[in-house]
Amino acid sequence: MKEVPILLLALIVIVVGCNRIVNVQKNAKGGNMNGRYLVASGGNQAVPFNDDYMSKGHEYFDVYSPEIATHYGEVFWTDQGNNLIPQEIIDRFAGKVMAITGYEQDQVMVYPLDKPGLNPENDVSVPINWAYNHHYMAWMTGNHSKLVKIQNPDPSDVSAHGSPMKWVAVDLPSAKDREYKNVPTSQMFSEGNGGESRKSFHGYPDGFAQLIDSPDKWHITPMQIDTRNRDCGATPQDVHNCTVFTPGDEPRQARYGRGIPKEGAIYSGILECPCNGRFGGDPAIYGPSTKTKYTQHHYALVVEPSCKTPTKSATICFDAVANLGVKATKNVTMVSSSSEVPSGCSVDSESDGLIIVSYNEFKSSKQCSTSSKRTGNLKFSTGVSIKIELSEVSTITLSGPADAWFGVGFNATHMADKPYTLIVNSTGVYKRQIGTCGSEADHCPGTPLKSSIKIVSNTVVDGVRTAVLTRPLKGLTKEHYSFNALNAQINFISAIGSSQVFAYHKVHTTGIIALITSNEPNCICEVGETGMMCDNNGSNCDHFVKNCVPAPAGELLSQRNPTCNSMTYAGGLQCCKHKRIMLDADQPIRPELLRYHMKFRFWFQEYKVVGAKVSHHDLPRIYYQTEAWAGEYDIPPAFALPGKPIPGYNNWPLNTPTPGTKCTGNCPSGDDCECVHTIEFKWTVSNIRLIYAGGHCHAPACIAMELYRNDTGHEMELLCRQVPVFGKGNIKENKYDEAGYIALPPCLWGDDTGLEPSVLLPKNTPMVAIKHNRNTKVGHFGEMASWQMRGVNF
Ligand SMILES: *[C@@H]1O[C@H](CO)[C@@H](O)[C@H](O)[C@H]1NC(C)=O
Ligand SMILES: *[C@@H]1O[C@H](CO)[C@@H](O)[C@H](O)[C@H]1NC(C)=O
Ligand SMILES: *[C@@H]1O[C@H](CO)[C@@H](O)[C@H](O)[C@H]1NC(C)=O
Ligand SMILES: *[C@@H]1O[C@H](CO)[C@@H](O)[C@H](O)[C@H]1NC(C)=O
Ligand SMILES: *[C@@H]1O[C@H](CO)[C@@H](O)[C@H](O)[C@H]1NC(C)=O
Ligand SMILES: *[C@@H]1O[C@H](CO)[C@@H](O)[C@H](O)[C@H]1NC(C)=O
Ligand SMILES: *[C@@H]1O[C@H](CO)[C@@H](O)[C@H](O)[C@H]1NC(C)=O
Repeated sequence: MKEVPILLLALIVIVVGCNRIVNVQKNAKGGNMNGRYLVASGGNQAVPFNDDYMSKGHEYFDVYSPEIATHYGEVFWTDQGNNLIPQEIIDRFAGKVMAITGYEQDQVMVYPLDKPGLNPENDVSVPINWAYNHHYMAWMTGNHSKLVKIQNPDPSDVSAHGSPMKWVAVDLPSAKDREYKNVPTSQMFSEGNGGESRKSFHGYPDGFAQLIDSPDKWHITPMQIDTRNRDCGATPQDVHNCTVFTPGDEPRQARYGRGIPKEGAIYSGILECPCNGRFGGDPAIYGPSTKTKYTQHHYALVVEPSCKTPTKSATICFDAVANLGVKATKNVTMVSSSSEVPSGCSVDSESDGLIIVSYNEFKSSKQCSTSSKRTGNLKFSTGVSIKIELSEVSTITLSGPADAWFGVGFNATHMADKPYTLIVNSTGVYKRQIGTCGSEADHCPGTPLKSSIKIVSNTVVDGVRTAVLTRPLKGLTKEHYSFNALNAQINFISAIGSSQVFAYHKVHTTGIIALITSNEPNCICEVGETGMMCDNNGSNCDHFVKNCVPAPAGELLSQRNPTCNSMTYAGGLQCCKHKRIMLDADQPIRPELLRYHMKFRFWFQEYKVVGAKVSHHDLPRIYYQTEAWAGEYDIPPAFALPGKPIPGYNNWPLNTPTPGTKCTGNCPSGDDCECVHTIEFKWTVSNIRLIYAGGHCHAPACIAMELYRNDTGHEMELLCRQVPVFGKGNIKENKYDEAGYIALPPCLWGDDTGLEPSVLLPKNTPMVAIKHNRNTKVGHFGEMASWQMRGVNF
């Protein structure tokens, strides 16, 4: 058997029935790749369900991903392309339907290094405390489908994990000519899909499967974090070295800055994706001058008598005005109270042309202008300039080169905003809405707009054309720009062409106009702020606001969970992008690579239709998150400690449990103090019958996940309880038993021995999901609490 390639081995198992016996003899645990599994049902944590596929006559084939090679602390998180499944399987199922009854997953080092699958008996499983499988998304496609990357239009669809793009399988045109039109052309595999994956059961009760027509390829996007201390070695020979987890370097923000425990560290703080000194590290840990994270405040000229949020200093005031393109003749800081100047930051444009910017830290009775008579100027770096005067009508003066067209687009910072645009050339002034053709790099001329402008003059002096025009304040249609009395600042883009004929521009630039009332002060206020997360040198900044579901349905916003926006974000996927090193900038990158592959064993049966009876019902995916729809969430430590602030919960007081935390005993310092962090999500489902429900949560703090129905007559009736089975470190007996790492026996329902019967949840059934985590001493970034389920709707 030793030299038989895996494809051949699979073929023998599949084609020659008696080889099942060979396999059973070879592997006393049955044909399962990872040994036996536990299965739950309803509230029961272990039921006597037969998890041994081979004993039920199911067949299998194995697939390996391309190589994953990482450094210590490195994140690997990318799509690994199209990979063929074994040719024998493709041929056997051409034009037929495969019923995938389950699958198993492992991560293995192979020998020879570049030949995964050639000598499977040489495969060495990579311990989960070497390479943490954060999660994976896997697909199988077939002859009638392909995987494509698309823009993710739905903010509550978190399968894109914070990226604007996501992978989906789509039908090819041939899909409509198939024999089994109701059978899917592709399947996705993403249940119990993380650190728990190897020992969590991914199979279905009798008569249920994931059906796929003419399968031929599989795909995987794994997210892996390398946590193997390189002093212990990272080759197959080293699996017996440092079998008690030996942490390597961790960035200061790991474990909320509380450091690696002196004894009994069973997991790496790196697997929680702490933002760090290379990207996104919090000032609470890295000091106020760190460039990795800061708050950007936004200032604007407002048409209001006073500021809701005043600017905080003279410097900020003068800079904010300068950034509006307003050239101050004088910057004045009031040294005593004055009723001539409003409180805070203001600009006064006087009739003699002086522009005075004042910062007044004192209270004042003077109010800012709310007049709609306003004027502003802007000279772009391209040489185009625009002047706007607003009263009962708008008067717009545009000037630029006489030898080509030039134009300005209103309320835009790039072409993709499709702005209302004024174009000037030797024959006149034209309006259009600029378009884009598919992508930003690909400008289209857009559509000409019906005109409401009057040209007052169009003259050329010294090679400079100046056009003066008037236009009503309100635009003709919604494609036309409307001047708004409350909007005293307008962003512009400007471009110059190569000739008089409007076409692709030669140069373009952006600018901003501040519309100021003369002889009256105009208030400059703080109007918002953005949290910026950046590289160590302040570049490559990122910012976001997630679509966290508000109360009473979701709890992340009411608990101020730091995951919801980049201002408070302290750890998780957004700091854990592909190829990032989860270390501080001053921690060296070790050169030794850990090289391995994802390995999946798919179990299947042939799909048969006899009359109106089918051998298997397909199980579509049913997916909800207790952390709706953030895709992840933080479990802060129960208490802030002196000198140990909680990143994400700035200035959290001592001796006060963090939001979501409930404690018993003498807390925070008593030996009997025990704390649990809880989140809850409520939603409704209609006409579904659950067959499989798997929770996804991370080692090592998960206590339980619960799923309830809460309709009349079934108030808070437990449907499924997921309790992790923790590894005890007995890896001599079971290589998957790494201390602290978990398996999650999924809930199954059906007619098989041991299972509770499935129930049809009627229309608008209220559901409640609850997730509990321990957080007495430590917190956890980027935890997950999703319900990865499958079922039918009859
Ligand atoms: C794939 O589909 C095409 C056309 O739909 C068909 O001609 C071909 O035989 C199919 N091949 C397999 C392997 O299913
Ligand atoms: C095994 O680990 C120890 C540290 O515990 C280290 O000194 C030794 O070099 C390692 N062996 C190999 C082969 O890497
Ligand atoms: C006012 O302050 C701004 C921002 O610091 C500066 O750019 C400008 O030159 C100053 N103007 C005068 C006249 O000092
Ligand atoms: C400017 O554009 C934004 C969208 O980019 C829009 O929400 C806003 O209403 C526009 N303002 C005006 C005055 O047209
Ligand atoms: C100026 O632009 C308009 C509108 O695009 C166009 O019809 C006209 O021919 C242009 N003038 C010249 C001299 O090219
Ligand atoms: C900042 O660092 C990144 C990589 O860490 C580098 O690519 C970039 O050039 C640096 N930018 C500046 C302005 O130094
Ligand atoms: C469950 O339903 C009952 C009755 O409608 C309601 O009072 C209770 O608040 C619900 N529980 C939860 C956790 O939503």
